Amino acid sequence: MNYPRLKHWLEERYDLTDVRKFAKSKLIPEHRYDFLYYTGGITLFLFIIQFISGMLLAFYYVPHIDHAYKSIIDIVTKINMGWFFRSFHHWGAQLAILFLFIHLFGTLLVKAYRKPREMIWVTGFVLLIISIFFGLSGYLLLWDERAFAAVRVATGGAGALPVIGEFIKIFLRGGTEVTGETIVRFYAFHVAILPLITLCIIGLHVLLVQYHGVSVPTSLEKNKTSAVPFFPNVFYKDMIIWLIVLGVVVTLAVLLPPEIGIQADPLAPPPENIKPEWYFLCVLETLKLFPGEILGLNGETIAILCVSTGILFLFLIPFFARKANRGKKSPLFTSIAVVYVVYFVTMTVIGFLS
Ligand code: HEM
Repeated sequence: MNYPRLKHWLEERYDLTDVRKFAKSKLIPEHRYDFLYYTGGITLFLFIIQFISGMLLAFYYVPHIDHAYKSIIDIVTKINMGWFFRSFHHWGAQLAILFLFIHLFGTLLVKAYRKPREMIWVTGFVLLIISIFFGLSGYLLLWDERAFAAVRVATGGAGALPVIGEFIKIFLRGGTEVTGETIVRFYAFHVAILPLITLCIIGLHVLLVQYHGVSVPTSLEKNKTSAVPFFPNVFYKDMIIWLIVLGVVVTLAVLLPPEIGIQADPLAPPPENIKPEWYFLCVLETLKLFPGEILGLNGETIAILCVSTGILFLFLIPFFARKANRGKKSPLFTSIAVVYVVYFVTMTVIGFLS
């Protein structure tokens, strides 16, 4: 069915006047930071391709301690194009989290979270936490020694949180140690629970953006900024950018397929020089800054409390930025945003090089 026939087919059955009116009336401001509007769309696209490639892998992956590792070796060596889809899923995840951070820091720097968009920020932040958990749960499924050690450290770290820590650790591991039970649990999270929650929250996040419209940075609000229609101008640009991103993921997947290490052995000593995924490095390097004991108190617990406070402050930032919420310039919150971005990048680079 060609496009005019499809249009006719639809119009015979449905009244699309409102949809057409909405598409035409939706305007996107044009200014020097408008490239930031594309970062949310890129993240959305990367999530879509993760869902598709993940579904293909789910046909062959076996979430069992005796078969998990071997099923991935089979996907890579025996299944037609299996190596490509595994690599594609790996690189899609890396870029999804990279763009998630770019999107977060971009909206943080231009204070797009300010009134009335607080809930866009809150839903976005929840998506960030879910995405990190997506990464961690997917990582363990490989069941090689690196994945095993990383999940042991991460769940052990959660265990150091006061009061609820032990409960979270046991809940995540499905017991006191990382075992086959943990694989089943992480698999359920990775392929069922997290995708379902993510779909609902992405829906809410994007719906809220439609409701409020995109923001204009406070520094530019006084200048009369021009606007272009979302359809077709911004929509076509989105499509071109998505195609380029797809090209990048395919290229990385073909040229740099991820390694598979030695099968995990829970009884073996942890391997030396293991590094977690890059998005954990900032937190890990921060934890290293704290001594083992501070004024007679456990250093690790204090470190985790400090990191949690930093994350909580970022989560609640729209509710603290009172000046920005009144539409005024707020150099303090611009500086806070810059500190977060610089700190995250610096610690990640240090972690990467160390
Ligand atoms: C799965 C993850 C996410 C997806 C798919 C997503 C998608 C989107 C899309 C499509 C937009 C509209 C276009 C744009 O302004 O870029 C948007 C806007 C926005 N997002 Fe996200 N986002 C995600 C995560 C986040 C995170 C982690 C945050 C911050 C904590 C965040 C905060 C915002 C804000 C404040 C806006 C409004 C921007 C404005 O009004 O100028 N989002 N998001």
